Amino acid sequence: MAAGTYSPGLEGVIAGATNLSEIDIEKSQLVYRGYNVHELAKEGGFEETAYLLLYGELPTRAQLDGFNSQLASERSVPDYVYDVMAKVPKGAHPMDQLKVGVAALAPSDPDYEVGPLDHDANVRKAVRMTAKMGAIAANGWRVAHGQDPIQPDPSLNTAANFLYMLKGEKADDYTVATLNTSLVLYAEHGYNASAFCARVTVSALSDIYSGVVSAIGTLKGMLHGGANEKAMAMLMEIGSPDKAEQYVKDALAQKKKIMGFGHREYKISDSRSGIMGDMGHEIARRKGDTKWTDIADVVERTIKQEKGLFPNVDFPAAYTYYLLDIPIPLYTPIFAVSRITGWCGHIIEQLDNNRLIRPKCIYEGEKLRPYVPVDQR
Ligand SMILES: CC(C)(COP(=O)(O)OP(=O)(O)OC[C@H]1O[C@@H](n2cnc3c(N)ncnc32)[C@H](O)[C@@H]1OP(=O)(O)O)[C@@H](O)C(=O)NCCC(=O)NCCS
Repeated sequence: MAAGTYSPGLEGVIAGATNLSEIDIEKSQLVYRGYNVHELAKEGGFEETAYLLLYGELPTRAQLDGFNSQLASERSVPDYVYDVMAKVPKGAHPMDQLKVGVAALAPSDPDYEVGPLDHDANVRKAVRMTAKMGAIAANGWRVAHGQDPIQPDPSLNTAANFLYMLKGEKADDYTVATLNTSLVLYAEHGYNASAFCARVTVSALSDIYSGVVSAIGTLKGMLHGGANEKAMAMLMEIGSPDKAEQYVKDALAQKKKIMGFGHREYKISDSRSGIMGDMGHEIARRKGDTKWTDIADVVERTIKQEKGLFPNVDFPAAYTYYLLDIPIPLYTPIFAVSRITGWCGHIIEQLDNNRLIRPKCIYEGEKLRPYVPVDQR
């Protein structure tokens, strides 16, 4: 094959194929296995979406009931995982703790010894991780703060269980529904950096858990999932709606990136941000606290005017989660609680038709030169 053209950041490069999701840039539309994410968010829920991504089709009622029972029976995490997580030095970011938790969890999987090319075992591992991710994130936060882990409640779905384990009490229906919808929106997004990273890792015939650990590390970055936490930090730094316009103008003048805006793929809008933003505004209205949404509205308007940029899903996720009283360092771990499904879908897809991912690079270093012994340098 002839050498291709170099594109920094692989922009515009086709790096593979997928059946998982389609990003239609013209329509700013996101589709999971043929279903518009808007419909899945409105009519379905996270568990249906997870089933769709892992098994390829939406579940029948019986399949969904079976899947929910399976998730409920798989949610518990061995105590030793929490013990390991509790030993992580204080102040570690929860995404680093999540990596530790998932890495520690791997050997306890009943299919640990099964090789990476076994499709059925990979699906079973994916379901187990989907079930456990919320517990690892919520209880990881608890143990980092000197609290005991809380056992998941088998009667609760992924969103409700996460909130229950985090807070120690059941959340109200609207809070659960909001988090549930956000999990649908965050579940999958083509060859994004973390999914690609997961594919690269397993393409060497490493295991699905290793692929997920790589992906968690990638998602942490603020140009990717970490943007939701940084966006909230920015809203807090702005502090009030009257300061928002100047803040944005100053930041743009200094060539600073505004977190939660722009996208490599979308050029007009990110369809997920509208749904997320509506939920955030609704919670603000219900709580009678519109300070954050008011600041966000000015930020959004100003960036649009000044730079023609639109919010991606991470911007409204930031104030939505804040209004749900979720600690800011857990915003990106929540993204992972959802994206585990997309990652596993990509990993399984990669391993079902594997070829080592190993691109070329341009060497820009020194030309060949003679070796000089150490004492003569
Ligand atoms: C997502 C992102 C990395 C995509 O970037 P990309 O395709 O590599 O685009 P670039 O960073 O090269 O940006 C292209 C132009 O838009 C500007 N731009 C893009 N996103 C911007 C942002 N969030 N704030 C300010 N300017 C931005 C760049 O400064 C650049 O402007 P210039 O041509 O005048 O120099 C980028 O939009 C970004 O950093 N956003 C903030 C982080 C974020 O929200 N990440 C979550 C993504 S879902």
